[in-house]
Amino acid sequence: MLKLTDVVAHYGPIQVLKSVNLEVRAGEIVCLLGGNASGKSTTMKTILGVVRPTAGRVEFEDQRIDRLPTETIVRRGISLVPEARRIFARMTVWENLAMGAFTRQKAPAGELAADVERVYALFPRLAERQHQLGGTLSGGEQQMLAIGRALMARPRLLLMDEPSMGLAPVLVDQVFDIIQTINRLGTTILVVEQNAAVALSIASRGAPKRPDRRPRRGPHPPGRRPHSARLPRRRLTPWPVPSRSCPSRSSSASPWGPSTASSPSATRWSTASCS
Ligand SMILES: Nc1ncnc2c1ncn2[C@@H]1O[C@H](COP(=O)(O)OP(=O)(O)OP(=O)(O)O)[C@@H](O)[C@H]1O
Ligand SMILES: [Mg+2]
Repeated sequence: MLKLTDVVAHYGPIQVLKSVNLEVRAGEIVCLLGGNASGKSTTMKTILGVVRPTAGRVEFEDQRIDRLPTETIVRRGISLVPEARRIFARMTVWENLAMGAFTRQKAPAGELAADVERVYALFPRLAERQHQLGGTLSGGEQQMLAIGRALMARPRLLLMDEPSMGLAPVLVDQVFDIIQTINRLGTTILVVEQNAAVALSIASRGAPKRPDRRPRRGPHPPGRRPHSARLPRRRLTPWPVPSRSCPSRSSSASPWGPSTASSPSATRWSTASCS
């Protein structure tokens, strides 16, 4: 679904991404692990077209996207839950969610309203606080809002930049439950985490960080229980994932059908391939 090949990125003269190679397959949760300043957020921004790579290529659903404007990339089906949430503090919860659908201005009003209801079903707390200003929400509520806002773009691939940052352990667990639920409802996820212990707790397969900077796959670390084992069984509507324009899409990837709501093919953990 997503493929980064030898991606290099600079801020001015400083090279931040040296040669990032990463692949995410449809239906997976892939975690990019890396320390501070290793270029995790820059990798996310490069996928989204906020940072232009100086070499290499980024492909989404077999089409090159590294020269497209961000808005086009979002329309193609990628959205980002940014680091530190970055919700609109002076807008209400509802307005924040509406902003998440900025690429869908031509969508019927009823469709957007139904998507807001889906977000509220995922995060009942947001429904309770829909008229509250974003800036007055707690950290955990702001994280829920940031995720909900990203879902309003109806992404097929959701990028999440350190969703556990600054949250109490109980909230971290909730956020990772939600990540799995969103994935189960049909959205592929690339999540950046510094908190390897939390990240690996939901992995069905894990991998140590490799010095060669190439993503590797490996067996699930012994003694760790797949997070899915403690997922609450909730009745939720599958998240609507619009069909992509790319003609090579397989017919099995129906946006609303049961195939997208079934379990992900696998959860895979990739090590950061950035410096
Ligand atoms: N806009 C910018 N201009 C110049 N340098 C930047 C810019 N954004 C990031 N950098 C630098 O690029 C490097 C990688 O930053 P990045 O934010 O991608 O790291 P990260 O892995 O996400 O770190 P963290 O775990 O702290 O979030 C850092 O050294 C940072 O100072
Ligand atoms: Mg970062």
